[in-house]
Formats: sequence, structure tokens, C-alpha cells
Amino acid sequence: MDGKEAVHNLTTKSVTGPLGDILRQHFSQNVEEYLEIGPERVILSSTYVDWHPSFVNFPVYPQDVWVVTYPKAGTTWCQELVWCLINEPKSPGIEVHLGERFPFFEVDALLPPDFTPPESAPETMNPGFTWRTLQTLPSPRTIKSHLPKQLLPKHFWEAKPKVVYVCRDPRDVCVSYYYFNRMMDGYSGSFGQFVDLFLGDKVLYSPFWLHVLQYWQLRNEDNVLFIRFEEMKEDLARVVREVAEFLGKEVDERKVAWLVHHCSFDEMSKNPAVNNEDLMGDGNEETKGIKFMRKGEVGDWKNHLTEEQQRAFKEWTLKNLQDSDFPYYQDYD
Ligand code: A3P
Repeated sequence: MDGKEAVHNLTTKSVTGPLGDILRQHFSQNVEEYLEIGPERVILSSTYVDWHPSFVNFPVYPQDVWVVTYPKAGTTWCQELVWCLINEPKSPGIEVHLGERFPFFEVDALLPPDFTPPESAPETMNPGFTWRTLQTLPSPRTIKSHLPKQLLPKHFWEAKPKVVYVCRDPRDVCVSYYYFNRMMDGYSGSFGQFVDLFLGDKVLYSPFWLHVLQYWQLRNEDNVLFIRFEEMKEDLARVVREVAEFLGKEVDERKVAWLVHHCSFDEMSKNPAVNNEDLMGDGNEETKGIKFMRKGEVGDWKNHLTEEQQRAFKEWTLKNLQDSDFPYYQDYD
């Protein structure tokens, strides 16, 4: 079968070639193996395959609110904002770990079944915890996912829950993802190798552009709101109003101001319910000091990408966008 295996109606294939070697050599922690899933060759862990039937059959309700992103696009930021708009900000619960208030749908599939979380890790990292939480979440449920459209639960687009999709400049995503992978998944390769993996569409949840363009195409659906990290940075108050309107929530200017403050980088960095410091742990000599709430800036790629890497990003971006009306992130000289 050309190296492909069909499990639960999914075709899966090992990542081969030099990029497959980098994955196997440099992602020692947590993940058993990264696989290419389906014809779109989405990169997910081998554990995902066992979870797939449960995910596909997960019931979805129109009252649900999902925040969907490619990783590192500002998911946590948007989750906190959405949660506070749906629930009264001062209501009990805001101190509860975001992973419990707003579970990460497929997180159980990212870790091997025998995974033992480090002591500092939140309860949400215990295998099965999130799946159990999802079964008893009160309505309206708030759920995070990084899954591409075709892997969402099968009745998703009939139930039409509200979806806030956040995207971010892939150059900044790549930089942010590199640090995150070093800390979380024990990535031990170089930054250059990580850029190769990213542009080769071989990091977890890639291909990046497939992800973004799928949801971009859905942006005019009534139940979809497409926003960008850069807009949130530019004028968070405007995005707060936009998201509130989408969710059917009235916000006065006092509440907008409160939300802008509560969701600022500084406030979120200090807030243990959302800053994921427990998730990241203390790291080792190599990774000490890398934080989940790292910089929160637009354009940090300028401090990281060589001219050659920038050219490679340009080529990859323009190739992926050639038949698309997606207008952002093409500011190449
Ligand atoms: P950096 O690594 O560039 O700092 P996700 O939640 O999707 O994993 O995204 C994490 C990225 O969003 C990190 O980017 C993090 O710093 C940034 N981020 C989180 N909250 C933010 C906020 N309130 N303001 C700006 N950036 C934020």
C-alpha cells in the first residue's frame, strides 16, 4: 500500500526523507511518532489514530463556541477573551485553569497513553481528564481545537456551533512554535532545522496554509468569525466588540476596557489560570527561561529569520496562495 496504512478509515503514513529523520531524531519527548494523516497529509501523532473515532463521533451543539487555530496563533488569548464574554468576568470560575473552562478538544491524542505528566503539570494533562471534562461541560460549552476542518466531529457543520478562527503571520507562528516545541516536546534540533520542518509542512498540525485557507473560505458563514493576531495587537478593543457582537453579547465601554486590560499580555503573563507556566515546567539547562507567554509581538520573525529563510518563506507563501484571495502576510520586498 505504498507505505500507507488505513486505520479507522484514515490513511496514515510515516514521514520519510530528511524531514522525517529530523522529526525522529529531535522530538524525543511525549510523541510516539508523527504521522501524515489522510490525503491532506496533516501531521498528527500516532496516538491520534486511536482517538479519531471518538473525536469524529463527538456530539456538537449549536450553542457551543469553538476557538480553532493553527498552534501559536494566539489561541489562549482568544480563548480567555471569548470565555470572559460568555461568562460574567467576575463570576466564580475565572481563576479556574483555562484548560478546564475551555478544554483542548484533542489534547489526549497528543500524548502517549502511558504519559505521566510532570508534577508541576495541571490536572488537564492527566490522560483522559480533558475527554471526561468535555462530557460534562455546561452549555454553552467553550472548546479549543487545532484540528483542520476535515477532522472535526462529523456533525460539526450541521450543528453549526460558533467558531472563532484566529490566524497569525506564519513567520511569527514558526518562531513561537520553535520555542514552544523546545520547551514542551523536547525539540533538540536547530532553529534552521525547525524552519525546514515548518516550510516542509511537517510539524504538528501542518500544512499551515491548508489550515488557514480552509477556514478563510468559511469566513462568510454565519457561524464563523475569522480574526487575526495582528488585529488583536493593533486594536484589541475593536476585536472585543467584534467578537461580542458575533457571540450575541452586549458589551458597554466599561466592560470593553476591563477586557482589554484583563487580556493584555502583561495581565495574562501574571495570571496562573492562563499563562501555562505549570504546563511548561521549569525546563532544563537548555530551555530554562522559555515561557509560554514569551513576547506576544508582531514581527519577532525579523529577529530570527536569515535572508535566505525569508526568501524560503516568500516562495512557500506565494506558492500556497497562488489560487487564493487571502490577502495577508505577503509583504515581501
Ligand atoms: P509568542 O511565542 O510569539 O510570544 P497559542 O495560545 O496559540 O499557543 O499562542 C501563543 C502565542 O500567543 C505566544 O506568542 C504568546 O506570547 C502569545 N500571546 C498569548 N497571550 C497574548 C496576549 N495577551 N497578548 C499578546 N500575545 C499573546
